[in-house]
Amino acid sequence: AGLDLGTDEFAGTVRTSLAQVEDLLLTELSSGDEIMTEAATHLAKAGGKRFRPMFAILAAQFGARPDAPEVITSATVVEMIHLATLYHDDVMDEAPMRRGAPSANARWTNSVAILSGDFLFARASRLVSTLGPEAVRIIAETFAELVTGQMRETIGPREGVDPIDHYLKVVWEKTGSLIAAAGRFGAMSADATVEDIERLSKLGDIIGTAFQVSDDIIDISSVSGDSGKTPGTDLREGVHTLPVLYALRADDPASARLRELLVDPQTGAAKPLSDDAEVAEAIEVLNASAGMAAAHERLHAYAAEANAVLAELPEGPAHGALSSLVSYTIDRTG
Ligand code: FPP
Ligand code: MG
Ligand code: MG
Repeated sequence: AGLDLGTDEFAGTVRTSLAQVEDLLLTELSSGDEIMTEAATHLAKAGGKRFRPMFAILAAQFGARPDAPEVITSATVVEMIHLATLYHDDVMDEAPMRRGAPSANARWTNSVAILSGDFLFARASRLVSTLGPEAVRIIAETFAELVTGQMRETIGPREGVDPIDHYLKVVWEKTGSLIAAAGRFGAMSADATVEDIERLSKLGDIIGTAFQVSDDIIDISSVSGDSGKTPGTDLREGVHTLPVLYALRADDPASARLRELLVDPQTGAAKPLSDDAEVAEAIEVLNASAGMAAAHERLHAYAAEANAVLAELPEGPAHGALSSLVSYTIDRTG
């Protein structure tokens, strides 16, 4: 299901803002050396849903000044931070594809991808400085959370820590935190009330977590090409996501086979898969598993939680659009 922005008039306003974000994004990323520009604009030009800017712009509609130029700046900063982390993420995940295009590491090298991510982060920092010290502080806190989540994912759960609790913490840190910041930024820069800023941050937190859970489901359920990424990347990396954790926890033949494939019998830790046939088998078993159904259930619980927060926000066109964004987040397939 696509995203329903409501009336033509409201949808037009949102699209105009998104087009301004697009312009600012490309201007900021093109403002370096020629070599830097090509690598730094690669991911932005490959497409993407612009989910975070969209959320920031919708959050801004609850403020007194939804058309403030700072809204565009905020939305752009958040997308730049997101893009920066994707350059680095694809190096760490050894991912060959992103947004239907070769990842920067695949097209060039790991070094080019890492340096491009750093450049994006530098440009995002420059841009956020125009919003003042409070904005800089929020972005710095958010960035630390992102990196901590990524670190936690890389190291894996400590002994005695429930792997599902670990996973949910990682997901909140690496994805929820930035989408929460998008909501907070959008609302703040449009002069929303303190209460509504907190609600929009909380909403971003829930939507962001759901967004990452659905991303993890898509890694297993999408047919190659559909998502613009290579399915099974998490399995190859030895990252156990929610459907996998639920499936491993089940007590059935499918789960026994999955344990053979995905768990190191010596240490009990996640085992990266490298054999194509094994990846295909794990994907097939997972798609038919109770774990997949349980992960979908969890997504629906997030939607209910998000809608409860949404209900506390004032009615209006942005309310309808956010409600559609919640449905889109849990139903998306790519
Ligand atoms: C995607 O997760 C990755 C993130 C949401 C954030 C990762 C954070 C970093 C790499 C921090 C370091 C960044 C910088 C600029 C210092 P995923 O791999 O599960 O999603 P995918 O399916 O989109 O690859
Ligand atoms: Mg990845
Ligand atoms: Mg990753």
